[in-house]
Amino acid sequence: MSLTTLISEEQLQNRVREIGAQITADYPDGTLYLIGILKGACFFLADLARNIERDAFIDFMAISSYGAEKTSSGEVRIIKDIDISLEGADVLIVEDIIDSGVTLNYLTNLLQARKPRSVRIAALLDKPERRKRHVDVAYVGFRIPDEFVVGYGLDYAERYRNLKEVCILDPDA
Ligand code: IMP
Ligand code: MG
Repeated sequence: MSLTTLISEEQLQNRVREIGAQITADYPDGTLYLIGILKGACFFLADLARNIERDAFIDFMAISSYGAEKTSSGEVRIIKDIDISLEGADVLIVEDIIDSGVTLNYLTNLLQARKPRSVRIAALLDKPERRKRHVDVAYVGFRIPDEFVVGYGLDYAERYRNLKEVCILDPDA
């Protein structure tokens, strides 16, 4: 296994601050519902939320993930739902990375059915080359090449989430 830094701690913190400021400016006064997707988005959500100067509710959903695999099963399953009603709410889904788009395409439709006022997505990372399903992403931290990355919440078989930077993982090196 070898790790190569792709995005430094400083780059992450600067970009998250910028996105937070943009979100603060874009939304009207009122409560913003931040829905983090476990587990990968927890670091991004924690940093982002502190850079949004709006009243914010925070909740989490858990979706079936790749597990120990590096490729998507294509199957989406809700493992943990949110506890709050979204009716009339401004909802911002906070995700670590968009890869095929399968997860967020499914989730956006699911949350839309709960009659919120708005649903947008904030994703720290985006691998546009890998897209299989259309996803509208309002806020993207970094567009990255088609490489498997870990750190700042992202894992490989549950490892490396607590790295301060985003690194490219090469399992063969
Ligand atoms: P999608 O449904 O294919 O867009 O998958 C998104 C999910 O796949 C993310 O929430 C991650 O859990 C996982 N994922 C995709 N690419 C990577 C990666 O490079 N490193 C770690 N996890 C990834
Ligand atoms: Mg994962």
